[in-house]
Amino acid sequence: IPMKRQVTETMKKQLPPVIFQLLELIGKEAAERDMNAFLIGGMVRDLLLNRDNVDMDIVIEGDGILLAEELQKLYGGSIRTHKQFRTAVWKHPSGFKVDLTSARTEYYDFPAALPKVEMSTIKEDLFRRDFTINAMGVCISTQEFGDLLDYFHGYEDINKGRIRVLYNLSFVEDPTRILRAIRFETRFSFQMDAQTHELARQAANNLRSVSKARLAGELSRMFYEEDAPAGAKRMIDLSCLNYIISTSLSEKTILQRIQLLTDVRKEFEANHVKMKPSFWIEHLFVMFQDHHQALIHAATFALSKDDKHTLNTTLHAVTTITDSADISPLAQTGEWHRQLSQTKNEALAGALVFADAELRQAGINYVIKRNQLIPLVGGKELINAGFKPGPHFKDILFELEIIQLENPDITADELLQYANRVLASGNET
Ligand code: CTP
Repeated sequence: IPMKRQVTETMKKQLPPVIFQLLELIGKEAAERDMNAFLIGGMVRDLLLNRDNVDMDIVIEGDGILLAEELQKLYGGSIRTHKQFRTAVWKHPSGFKVDLTSARTEYYDFPAALPKVEMSTIKEDLFRRDFTINAMGVCISTQEFGDLLDYFHGYEDINKGRIRVLYNLSFVEDPTRILRAIRFETRFSFQMDAQTHELARQAANNLRSVSKARLAGELSRMFYEEDAPAGAKRMIDLSCLNYIISTSLSEKTILQRIQLLTDVRKEFEANHVKMKPSFWIEHLFVMFQDHHQALIHAATFALSKDDKHTLNTTLHAVTTITDSADISPLAQTGEWHRQLSQTKNEALAGALVFADAELRQAGINYVIKRNQLIPLVGGKELINAGFKPGPHFKDILFELEIIQLENPDITADELLQYANRVLASGNET
């Protein structure tokens, strides 16, 4: 019999009031319809770890879609439903999203197959999950609001810093859970217990049967963690990196590059330079293989058009940064801009891994400046100042951008004067 714990006070303390009230409200509407509602998964785990998380995953004993429809009717917002998976997402007018799912058991036809869905109770639903720390629920139906459901000792495992599977075939059924285990180890400084570790080791070769797209997704998430190199190290220890990416580089070089890219990302982020969270996908190829191999390997991953483009520009940027005579640590910002203005932040981050420390810092500084640039003069200002519009505008505006990058205190008037001079001299020749 699981220990009775009540976490209402923790929820009150830890959650934004609007979230707390939303959970109470969903619990009330569920109870009025004789349904049980449970908050489950990552949000419960993070609640007990005092970490912010407002990804509301709610499992309903009853018809989750029906409840979502009624919530939307009563309280507004919008819903999206997936009848096939018995799930609905309700977007509350406050902007917060709630996932509502009918309690289910997941059957796997063969390893790594997508789950088929069938009605079931909350305990069975929780039992089908990856790790004990993710397999707790908090009841939110009015009568039992705040009761922690902990059938598998997740609470104890959280306190002991332990990642533990719920059943022996867990990794065989879903090998991506091996990567998730490593990700949670890395994020929380937890450890798999001996048995889980052994099961992960034994199941690692099942990663071969997972679709490349899913692997790429999991890896991106892993490398987005604070301590990405620790995750990579663990992947190498468990011999799973080689099922995902083939490379002839040494372990040391692999870890170094992951560390460098992590450092670049953090410096970008600290300076509000945006990157797609999935930016790692393209870099996986660029970082560990030569260009030719990278393209061949990437082709097996069915990348999106956008990701393919980033991959190509990254490869191109590596060449520019490491080979171009115009790019050096002493190069003016404008020179960087001339060579790389069209290269996205994601591609530049990946390419800077291949520069030495000084050049990398110069590149980072360029990206930060470029990101802060708000052009003082655009096409409209040129027209207002009496310039005749035409295709040459593009070049003039680019030159003005460069001048502004190099002279942050310059005024719009000074830029327009400059544009005048350029045009005048252009007319003479
Ligand atoms: N889950 C699982 N097996 C997987 C993926 C997910 O059992 N391969 C379950 C876990 O119970 C998890 C929940 O589905 O808590 C939600 O998954 P997801 O949103 O991917 O992960 P979180 O645990 O919320 O982790 P994160 O904080 O990284 O989003």
